[in-house]
Amino acid sequence: MNYYYITGTSRGLGKALAEHFLNAAPNNCVIGISRSQGLEHKNYTHYAVDLGDPEMVREFHFPPHHDARQIVLINNAGVIGMIRPAGKTSAGAIINNYNVNLIAPALLTNSFMKAYAESNVKKIILNISSGAAKNPIEGWANYCSAKAGIDMLSRVIAEEQKNAGAYPFRILSVEPGVVDTQMQEEIRSASPEDFRRLNDFINYKIENQLAHPAIIAKKYAYILEHMDHFNDVLVSVKNIAEQ
Ligand SMILES: NC(=O)c1ccc[n+]([C@@H]2O[C@H](COP(=O)([O-])OP(=O)(O)OC[C@H]3O[C@@H](n4cnc5c(N)ncnc54)[C@H](OP(=O)(O)O)[C@@H]3O)[C@@H](O)[C@H]2O)c1
Repeated sequence: MNYYYITGTSRGLGKALAEHFLNAAPNNCVIGISRSQGLEHKNYTHYAVDLGDPEMVREFHFPPHHDARQIVLINNAGVIGMIRPAGKTSAGAIINNYNVNLIAPALLTNSFMKAYAESNVKKIILNISSGAAKNPIEGWANYCSAKAGIDMLSRVIAEEQKNAGAYPFRILSVEPGVVDTQMQEEIRSASPEDFRRLNDFINYKIENQLAHPAIIAKKYAYILEHMDHFNDVLVSVKNIAEQ
């Protein structure tokens, strides 16, 4: 069996990823983690977890899979959070942003690696990054810095795994480009005073530049199936042809 742990499966890219793997092969099992459940399938198990609550994330445990051929963790759940310049944001919004975008992936990655350290199967962690990890976008300080943190977390773990004994993990941090999801709707509803690039994002939608989540999910699946093609930890789906 192939086991895919995916956060944020209730909608958007995470749901498209889950649907892709569930439809791709009968021996694929998806374990989804988000507050609400958006999927029903015989090979789908849902865990209702608020990733903004680190104590709840700590309590999530990865069980043994003795019949596994491959075990994958996709840290996909994310929030754009409050779009405002620093100095105008609320403390709660800042804390939730880092909890969901950085602390939860770091905790889940750590417990995934603890659980399967001795497992002699293919073990892959895919972190969903963003162009915002590399480019400062005004009004997005917490989102940009959390995604930059995800990139560096992935790079450090990849270095560690080069000397990690018999059963190393592979890890990549992959940016999806702009995707037509609720997150983009939230970005378009930001206030023009707080978000100078608002019109750029409105135009992405008007000009049909937002990719369908299913198209991007297929590109992530291609990456997972061709891990040997990727030497760099940081990857952009822009460099992957449509599948
Ligand atoms: N859309 C884009 O253009 C774009 C561009 C670059 C990067 N990304 C990244 O792509 C990933 C997916 O984003 P998306 O566009 O698909 O967003 P989305 O449509 O808003 O979906 C976000 C998912 O994350 C989950 N989530 C949010 N807060 C959560 C919480 N507190 N606890 C548990 N789950 C939570 C949501 O589930 P619940 O609400 O049910 O909990 C939902 O399933 C994110 O990491 C995002 O940063 C997106």
